[in-house]
Amino acid sequence: SILILDFGSQYSHLITRRCRELNVYCEMLPCTQKMADLKWKPKGIILSGSPYSVYAPDAPHVDPAVFTAGVPVLGICYGLQEIASTHGGKVEAHTHREYGSAHIQVVKTGNKNADALFEGIEAGPEGIQVWMSHGDQLASLPPNFLTVASTPTSPWTAIAHESQQIYGVQFHPEVTHSPRGKEVIGAFVHNVCGIKGGWSMETFIPKEIARIREICGDKGQVIGAVSGGVDSSVAAKIMHEAIGDRFHAIMVDNGVLRLDEAKKVKKMLVEDLGVNLTVVDASDLFLERLQGVEDPEKKRKIIGNTFIEVFEAEAAKIEETCAADKSKGPIEWLLQGTLYPDVIESISFKGPSATIKTHHNVGGLLDDMKLKLIEPLRELFKDEVRALGRLLGIPAHLVGRHPFPGPGLAIRILGEVTRDQIKILQLADEIYIEEIRAAGLYDQISQAFAALLPVKAVGVMGDARTYEQVVALRAVSTEDFMTADWFVFPPQVLKKISSRITNEVRGINRVTYDITSKPPGTVEWL
Ligand code: XMP
Repeated sequence: SILILDFGSQYSHLITRRCRELNVYCEMLPCTQKMADLKWKPKGIILSGSPYSVYAPDAPHVDPAVFTAGVPVLGICYGLQEIASTHGGKVEAHTHREYGSAHIQVVKTGNKNADALFEGIEAGPEGIQVWMSHGDQLASLPPNFLTVASTPTSPWTAIAHESQQIYGVQFHPEVTHSPRGKEVIGAFVHNVCGIKGGWSMETFIPKEIARIREICGDKGQVIGAVSGGVDSSVAAKIMHEAIGDRFHAIMVDNGVLRLDEAKKVKKMLVEDLGVNLTVVDASDLFLERLQGVEDPEKKRKIIGNTFIEVFEAEAAKIEETCAADKSKGPIEWLLQGTLYPDVIESISFKGPSATIKTHHNVGGLLDDMKLKLIEPLRELFKDEVRALGRLLGIPAHLVGRHPFPGPGLAIRILGEVTRDQIKILQLADEIYIEEIRAAGLYDQISQAFAALLPVKAVGVMGDARTYEQVVALRAVSTEDFMTADWFVFPPQVLKKISSRITNEVRGINRVTYDITSKPPGTVEWL
């Protein structure tokens, strides 16, 4: 596997993406990682880019053992400069920042070790298109290094040691703007490091199941919350595969879920997938506490705290049953569906003085219950979780589901949350999603939902005047939910949705479509 040492570049996590796409297992750690403390031996090391300059007094540097461990090293951008400056080369500020597309020419040196980096990559006469983003560059080549690629403005775009497996590229092969970058990373990983690349979801499943069994022992019991979302469903299913009914899933019905959600999740997890699930209907408690509350942050707090209370009470009941049964061990573990982006976020290098953030967990559950965390998805990206879900037999419509917020419809009902308001919104949302699916657009949209506005408008139905509520439809496309664009629907789809909602949902006489991007809007209305 590959070790990626992160110097804090915004592209670092993309290196892990590209390695995974090459079916090569990799792990990213902060650049300050000491080689002696590493519990495994990597077959290759990649040094990321960085916002720092290597010659700056506070610049981060790698453990020198990285270069003497006998493991091939590839430096990207800052990584190349780190290699150069630690091997007797010189790095200096460029007269102008080089930012954007460039074409590099591969230089055949005749040295087998050096040429391995671009071996098998066919470049046309115009060279290979790559993405540059750097303010510093090499001012001299370190001794015993050769140039293996250049551009007209930089003679040292890629360098390689004559005899040691140390390589550096000034461009960013990990970004999609370097269309053939994956081949460059592939050449390093396959040719130089000699990793074949057999890591895949098929190999992940038995390994992860074995790991879970070992952690939990023969009797250990695990509890976990499921929501009906992709991550918790996939995590629950793999736990069930590993330890059967010693995994206890709990679903809390907070009364602000989508139409018939608890029933649907129960059918899927229990009947189709065999997971040991308890659904706790706590909707009365939640709705009672939400009475008269309009402030969105208050709604969130009430729902979060009540969730913990209900979950803990249910866990205590399960604990009692386990204690009464001599064949069962105590509940020691809490399942959490943490994904790799959260892990990266918490371990990536944030500068010399940054404290490392801990993962956000289910609102303090761990502290209260003294449970240890078990996270079967912590190495996976979202699309890998989806692939895993499909392999585990989770139905396609669930695996591709849009995200749904924890506070549910409470943050999509503007104003007070009442049973009547919930019913109206559930019906409108159900029609909206049904029509999006019918039009074949669901997978093109990142998140779609209806929000119920606290205003009434005048309409006419038959011969009668109506005075009813307004629903706002939202659909966005986004990569990471930090920024989002509103989705452009074919007009006839909107027409059908609007006509169905106003005809079928009593209490709504007007439908609007939200055409606000994020920023300045947010995805949710509250
Ligand atoms: P915003 O509205 O902040 O939403 O642009 C970005 C993404 O986060 C989801 N979201 C939440 N998820 N609890 C959650 O579990 C929340 O309180 C919450 N608020 C927003 C939102 O649905 C979108 O996917």
